[in-house]
Amino acid sequence: GRCVVAVDGPSGSGKSTVSRRLAAGLGARYLDTGAMYRALTWAVLRSGVDLTDAGSVAKVAGEVDLRIGTDPQGYAVTADGVHVEKEIRGPEVTGAVSAVAAVPAVRELLVARQRQLIEAAGRIVVEGRDIGSVVAPDADLKVYLTASETARAQRRSAEDAADVAATAADLARRDKLDSTRKVNPLQQAPDAVVLDTTELGIDEVVARLRELLTE
Ligand code: CDP
Repeated sequence: GRCVVAVDGPSGSGKSTVSRRLAAGLGARYLDTGAMYRALTWAVLRSGVDLTDAGSVAKVAGEVDLRIGTDPQGYAVTADGVHVEKEIRGPEVTGAVSAVAAVPAVRELLVARQRQLIEAAGRIVVEGRDIGSVVAPDADLKVYLTASETARAQRRSAEDAADVAATAADLARRDKLDSTRKVNPLQQAPDAVVLDTTELGIDEVVARLRELLTE
């Protein structure tokens, strides 16, 4: 039957790895909503419009043909038919995504798209910042993953082969923008289960979520 799991939390909290593994184990689909904001940001950067001009950013959002797969083993992300899986992880997109994601018209559009994808999938693990609070408030399980700032910076810098201090600064910058924006900020849904993953391995977190699902 239908089963929607919402996984929210800040950067480097382990959301992506945990969500993909949980989805694969459940035989469910997986939606990386951050990849949607990143792909849209790639299109905005390509268009050359001023990032601080919400009207122009909203116009690009309305015109670009964004597509994302939901296979936890590997999903395509395209913007106007261009594969952007690599580009959306680069520093240009990472530097601009929080500004683009703060534009109300962008959120309205992507939230609607995300709800359609969830509806079509039926069984799905959805990862992001506002899934339990806004996108899928009726989810069967809501999880909010956290970890210490140090642990988050270490994980992310290891993934990106980047400097820990620079990564820590980038995470702190994005967390601040994401949690202070006016529309749909990063927040814990009141009914979310909060899991601090600082001292937990991926498999332990996934096992805990599976337990919560069968309770
Ligand atoms: O994986 P990482 O923590 O680097 O971020 P992500 O999940 O790829 O999301 C990238 C950015 O998209 C975040 O910093 C937010 O600005 C935005 N985002 C959002 O606003 N709402 C979501 N549901 C998901 C991502």
